[in-house]
Amino acid sequence: MLQQAADAVHDVLEFPNVDIPLLDPDDPGVLVVEIRGGGYKRQIQGIDRLPIERGVMGKAVRERRAQRVDDVGAVPGYITPPTTEGARAELAVPIFCAGEVVGVVNVEGEQPYDELDQRTIEIIADHLGIAIQNARLHEQNREAAVWQERMRLRGELHDSVTQILSSISLLAQALPSAWRSSAQEGERRAKRLAELAQSAFAEMRALLRELRPPHESHSGRHILPQNRDFLGLDRLRDGGLGAALPKLLEAMIPETLARRYRFDRYRPQHLPHEEAMYRVCQEAVSNVIRHSGAREVAVEAHVDANHAYLSIRDDGGGLPPTARGGIGLKSMRDRLARLGGELQLKPMLPNGLDVVACLPRRDREIGNA
Ligand SMILES: Nc1ncnc2c1ncn2[C@@H]1O[C@H](COP(=O)(O)OP(=O)(O)OP(=O)(O)O)[C@@H](O)[C@H]1O
Ligand SMILES: [Mg+2]
Repeated sequence: MLQQAADAVHDVLEFPNVDIPLLDPDDPGVLVVEIRGGGYKRQIQGIDRLPIERGVMGKAVRERRAQRVDDVGAVPGYITPPTTEGARAELAVPIFCAGEVVGVVNVEGEQPYDELDQRTIEIIADHLGIAIQNARLHEQNREAAVWQERMRLRGELHDSVTQILSSISLLAQALPSAWRSSAQEGERRAKRLAELAQSAFAEMRALLRELRPPHESHSGRHILPQNRDFLGLDRLRDGGLGAALPKLLEAMIPETLARRYRFDRYRPQHLPHEEAMYRVCQEAVSNVIRHSGAREVAVEAHVDANHAYLSIRDDGGGLPPTARGGIGLKSMRDRLARLGGELQLKPMLPNGLDVVACLPRRDREIGNA
């Protein structure tokens, strides 16, 4: 775009020599001259770096206004363009982008420039400023979209694969002692370990499928991956949260932790809402297992007139005042916020924590996602 502009200033408007330097974003005290038109394009190769303390272009940047010089020889600190004999007259107009100078449109020739020349170059500089701003906004939007997607995937990875690996790790630690007490118990837990590892594979494959470029992908985001029966995810579609969660919880919760479930005051919700609740439950229960020291966890879901709630309550030590938020709490909050809901952390008396997920109510008939 800048090169086309430099060529047009020479070819169409017949200015003999053109430079369009931009300020170095990493060092705004330097103009980087790479784009040239006319004689300078033919005569000068390579990139020049000009400090803005010197030269006519530098002055245009410093003073934030056009500079018109009839005889550059009389300007102290004038920088002759390399490999040329230079010119006599110069006109340098700053390019503004969002109120900041970002570069200069500069023309040089033998004949002094007049008011009309200045107005012409100012119009070009104005247009370039708008074009540069649009290009930057576009780049920022692209970066924001990439960032958002990266955060989403970070949450997905954390909430699925990391959870299962954490269960695997706990189970593996207790395996030798289970085996010592009874070979049958040892075998039962080893089987669970293998099932958990399989579901970690399935979750990972599902995520990798999401990362496929669109033309390779045949499934939408909310299509549940296959082979997730073990964790109860596939029950979500046909049976709702009340059918899916017990299966998940039985797979996750170690024998040493008592559990209570209650889903009789709950109604199945829009599938993306239930997927979010399911993930929140997975993370909140994993936190109970890893951080709380609780003896019991109670998982309960219900609806009132306008909202659906899921509560994961434990009787452990509660949130330490110094608790540092990991990915888990943030991911739960983000998931719910994306659907217009929120996460509440309620300390329990005398001890424990109640993690409550709340979403706007959106009932569905079972079997219709
Ligand atoms: N049920 C709970 N009981 C006691 N403390 C908890 C409970 N849940 C969370 N916490 C505290 O809150 C902190 C933040 O939780 P969060 O899930 O965000 O991160 P994490 O579990 O430490 O790491 P990550 O989830 O990223 O693997 C935990 O480190 C822990 O100190
Ligand atoms: Mg966590």
